[in-house]
Amino acid sequence: MAIPVLTIDGPSGAGKGTVSRAVAKKLGWNYLDSGSIYRSLAIAVLKQQLSLEDEGAIVNIARSMKLEFDCGDVLVVRLDNIDITTQLGLENTGNTASIIAALPEVRRVLLQKQKDFKQLPGLVADGRDMGTVVFPDAKNKVFLTASAEKRAERRYKQLIEKGIAANLAQITIEIEDRDRRDSERKTAPLAIADDAIYIDSSDMTVESVIAEVLNLIH
Ligand code: DC
Repeated sequence: MAIPVLTIDGPSGAGKGTVSRAVAKKLGWNYLDSGSIYRSLAIAVLKQQLSLEDEGAIVNIARSMKLEFDCGDVLVVRLDNIDITTQLGLENTGNTASIIAALPEVRRVLLQKQKDFKQLPGLVADGRDMGTVVFPDAKNKVFLTASAEKRAERRYKQLIEKGIAANLAQITIEIEDRDRRDSERKTAPLAIADDAIYIDSSDMTVESVIAEVLNLIH
């Protein structure tokens, strides 16, 4: 039996995580947060104080790291038996993940770990290259985006709500840098799959995006 896959790709801060989790829950499907795999590797690399240019050492960690995901109401991630959930969301983790994700061999090594999430009764896969590289045969593909200003504003609000000091101008610069790096890299850049539905969520509520995506499946 073919396992249905819905891919949701898009730039950082477009709301992919919230939408994907809600859709997966509604459908009773599995959920792959592929960014958290690159983020976990970033945490391991930062912990070992490796140079971000040392591709060989980074690939070795990518090969040997043991990752466990508990996909309950909140995603809990353990790296080599240590809970790294709180570090996953840090700005530095995301920016470092974006840098090491540009290394072709890193992407190659992490490919199978992502494919393994495809299990019955179905999968919602969230990332940058889910519909183009990891699950090119997925029946349903979405490209979810929003203007850089809107994405920066949302991120700023999230941080302030968590009691973390934040600077909107700085966040905007970081989001634009990340967009550039993720879109311009040679291997598996952020790109719209030919058969993806394009959703610009700049002026939409999360609920209406979720409804539109669910509509696509039904
Ligand atoms: O979605 P995210 O912000 O958690 O992803 C963090 C970084 O990981 C992102 O800036 C680029 C990289 N990434 C990737 O290259 N490919 C993916 N499928 C998911 C994330």
